[in-house]
Amino acid sequence: MPNRTRMIAGNWKMNNDVPAAKKLAEELVAAVPTSDAVEVVVCPPTIDLACTSHKLAGSAIKLGGQNVYWEEKGAYTGETSTGMLKSVNAEYCIIGHSERRDYFHETDEDVNKKARALMAAGITPISCCGESLEVREAGKHVEFVVDQIKKDTEGLEITDPSKYVIAYEPIWAIGTGKTATADDAQEVCGAIRKTLVEIFGQETADGIRVLYGGSAKPENIAGFLEKEDVDGALVGGASLVAESFAAMVEKAAE
Ligand code: PGA
Repeated sequence: MPNRTRMIAGNWKMNNDVPAAKKLAEELVAAVPTSDAVEVVVCPPTIDLACTSHKLAGSAIKLGGQNVYWEEKGAYTGETSTGMLKSVNAEYCIIGHSERRDYFHETDEDVNKKARALMAAGITPISCCGESLEVREAGKHVEFVVDQIKKDTEGLEITDPSKYVIAYEPIWAIGTGKTATADDAQEVCGAIRKTLVEIFGQETADGIRVLYGGSAKPENIAGFLEKEDVDGALVGGASLVAESFAAMVEKAAE
């Protein structure tokens, strides 16, 4: 039986200035239950990483970035390196979020380079994939996501499968209030797992966590978690309210 620790990861997106980030981090430390059954991560905007790290110190809540650049340093205005993430104790980093793909033209090749850089630095990627409404309506969603997974993982060497995380986020369900059903999530997360088995072999594939994301909230999280290949959630909107995020962690710890 695969033994994967569930994960609830909060993606604050471009929300919370420094005072608001400090306040939310304090509230999260007070509200989020500690459990060995679930790993909890928050991913604030880059400007908030240092202050959030400071507030989370000593708690079980881990820190992640929302983006990274693969070069070590130099003339890359506006970018953040893996070393910079490490210097604030970030252990995770989201890559390939659909908003970055859509608005900032991040490609699968970029996602792959970012994953390589993060893994070389000992930071766990939370690598996002997911289809648009158009692709879903054409019935091509499984094919589309499997193709993204193949490109995003190309040539990766995964020695510890707990240190590579995938988040399946159907774009039509992000921030829209429109959730995929638990069966929709399982269909694609199951196909992702099968693809991982083909690429990395059964044992490694069994250890990689596949999260669902897209309007996940305290009211619907339990249904997703019941599914065989859904190991947690990447949470946007509901991660901005300590009470909601804590309630989701609580459900995942049950
Ligand atoms: P949402 O965002 O929970 O607000 O839909 C999820 C995400 O984009 O990671």
